[in-house]
Amino acid sequence: MEIKKRKGIILAGGNGSRLAPLTLAVSKQLMPVYNKPMIFYPISTLMLAGIREILIICTDRDIDSFKSLLSDGSQWGIYIDYVIQPQPDGLAQAFLLGEKFLKGSPAALILGDNLFYGHDLVLKLKKANQIHQGSTIFSYQVNDAERYGVVDFDKNFKAISIEEKPRHPSSNFAVTGLYFYDQNVVELTKTLVPSERGELEITDLNNLYLLENKLNVEVLGRGFAWFDTGTFDSLQQASEFIRTIESRQGLKISCPEEISWRMGWINNKELENIGTKMINSSYGKYLLSLAQGKGNI
Ligand code: TTP
Repeated sequence: MEIKKRKGIILAGGNGSRLAPLTLAVSKQLMPVYNKPMIFYPISTLMLAGIREILIICTDRDIDSFKSLLSDGSQWGIYIDYVIQPQPDGLAQAFLLGEKFLKGSPAALILGDNLFYGHDLVLKLKKANQIHQGSTIFSYQVNDAERYGVVDFDKNFKAISIEEKPRHPSSNFAVTGLYFYDQNVVELTKTLVPSERGELEITDLNNLYLLENKLNVEVLGRGFAWFDTGTFDSLQQASEFIRTIESRQGLKISCPEEISWRMGWINNKELENIGTKMINSSYGKYLLSLAQGKGNI
C-alpha cells in the first residue's frame, strides 16, 4: 500500500471567550505572543516535524485575516489551505472538516493556541511523523490536570486510560494539543458521538486508538515547555518566556521563515526578500542577518 505523506491541521477557530474583550473582534490565534502572531507557533511545530501541507480551520469572521497573514504558504515553501468551522463543535471535528483536504493521508492536528519548546523536540516530532500506524500523542506534567485530558499510566509507564477533564485526576499528566494519527483517523472520527457538552471529543478518539493498542503516549519531560495561551495570564507568561529566551540567545523561537530556510524550502534570496519587507522590525532584521550568513547555528 502506498504510504502518503502526513498533512497538518491547525484548529484556529473557537470562541476565545476567556480572552474577551481582546477576542471580540479578532481571533485569539492572531494575538501576539511576544513578537509573532500566535499561529506562527503551531505552524512552526508542524514545519519542524517536516509537514508542508497545512489546513487552517477558523471562523467565518477571521478567515480573511488569516489569509492576509499567511496566504497560500508559498512564501515559506509550504502549502496552506483554509476551511471554516461554523461553530466550535469539538476538536475531533477537525477531521470531518479536513476530510477533503486529507484525501486519505495520515494527519497531525495541533491546537492554534499551543506552544511547544525544548531540547530534542524536533527529534520527537520527526519520529512521530515517521510512524504510519496508530497514533502518537504527547503528555506533560501540569499542576492543574483537571483542565485537560488526563493520562493514567501503569507502572511501566504504559497508558491505560485517558479521561477528559476529570474532577479527580488520576495523574498530573495532561494530554497536550498535538496529535499524530494514521490514515484511519477520518473513519474513526465518524464513529464518535458528541459528548454531554455537545462536542466531538479528541479524548474519545484517542481512547479508540488506545482500545486497539495503537496509541503511543510520548511524555515531554520537565526540560520541555508547553503552554496553551488561552487566558490573560498564560498569554503573558508565554510572551515573557519567548522574550527571555530570544533575548538571551539572539535566536528566534518558532520563526517559520527561518525554519523554512533551514529546511531548504526557501533560499537565501527569498529569505532576504521577506526580511527586507519588515526591515523596520527586529524580526525583519533577524531574517536579513540569517540570509546574509550571520546566523550562528
Ligand atoms: P479552547 O481553548 O478549548 O476554546 P476557545 O479557543 O474557544 O477558548 P475559550 O475556552 O476561551 O472560549 O480551544 C483550544 C483551541 O482549539 C483553540 O486554539 C481554539 C481551537 N478550537 C477550535 O478551533 N474549534 C473548536 O471546536 C474548539 C473546541 C477549539
